[in-house]
Amino acid sequence: MDLKGPVLGIESSCDETAAAVLAPDGTIMAEAVFSQTEDHARFGGVVPELAARAHLSHLPGLVAGVMERAGVAPGDLGGVAATSGPGLIGGLIVGASFGKGMALSQGLPFVAVNHLEAHALTPRLPGLLPGGAAFPYLLLLLSGGHCQCVAVEGLGRYRRLGTTLDDAVGEAFDKAAKLLGLPWPGGPHLERLAAGGDAARVPLPRPLLGRAGCDFSFSGLKTAVAQAVAKGVAAPADIAASFQASVAAVVADRARHALAMAPGATALVVSGGVAANTGVRTALTAVAAAAGLPMVAPPIRLCTDNAVMVAWAGIERLHAGLTDPWDHAPRPRWPLDELTPPA
Ligand code: KG4
Ligand code: ZN
Repeated sequence: MDLKGPVLGIESSCDETAAAVLAPDGTIMAEAVFSQTEDHARFGGVVPELAARAHLSHLPGLVAGVMERAGVAPGDLGGVAATSGPGLIGGLIVGASFGKGMALSQGLPFVAVNHLEAHALTPRLPGLLPGGAAFPYLLLLLSGGHCQCVAVEGLGRYRRLGTTLDDAVGEAFDKAAKLLGLPWPGGPHLERLAAGGDAARVPLPRPLLGRAGCDFSFSGLKTAVAQAVAKGVAAPADIAASFQASVAAVVADRARHALAMAPGATALVVSGGVAANTGVRTALTAVAAAAGLPMVAPPIRLCTDNAVMVAWAGIERLHAGLTDPWDHAPRPRWPLDELTPPA
């Protein structure tokens, strides 16, 4: 399908409200993210009802702002793409309804974007890699809500190779951080604390390390951290360092297995907030290098939740002639392997 103008992307699946306008070739014309972290921090996690209300109050202003900065009037757009799952249903309804309303009022095509597909296609954004990442590649999605190894074989063609049996990796960081008395979200705080610690002082388990496949499990590690903290076996910095070393070792091991399950992969792509962690990044760079592949991590602002990736997924789908009907219902659960590839 020929795109007659830029695409507006909307993200509202968790606690980031975001909007972006991208030219049909993927050039970013304007982007904005409003993070609700402060609204939720005092509750120690995302409160769905508060998140939905915050999306409702921030989204119209964010969209108006990016449209103005991009110099684009609603009628100039070529399409609207809004995250429609997986995620918290209240936020999904806000973003998808807003997107549909805007598309309907201007007679534009609408794309109901799968949030995981948006993360998966981010490395194909022009400008990140020369020519963009070529299919197939291996995606490691390491965030607070998602933890999976996915073979990205083409637009709409994803093979989930492994996932977590309990907590997502970012969730494990947040829980360990909480046990260590750090504020939420704890990943970055834990990384800073770990920098001054000695990982060798506290032996912690490395769940599923060496086990066949590429699933993850973090609950045993979390319990071990709880016990180490309760018994006061070492300084908090040492426990943090050991926790981070365990996670990095496990993630690297799982990535190695996943690469073996995705023959022909042209790159190892890491996305999600945990991709910001230096220990995890270093371990994964070594895994990719050993396989003779580049390790690609989009810049952090494109790794964490944003609307650039949503607009880009919309552009890829619209170019392939894929649109969604007005009655497309947002889906709190929407696994990647239930997507439709182009005919
Ligand atoms: O992708 P993201 O921004 O949001 C979603 O979960 O969708 O990821 C946030 C997660 C949080 O659990 C946060 O603690 C973790 O990523 N995180 C980190 C670091 N920065 C963010 N974990 C470890 N080290 C970091 N530097
Ligand atoms: Zn996400």
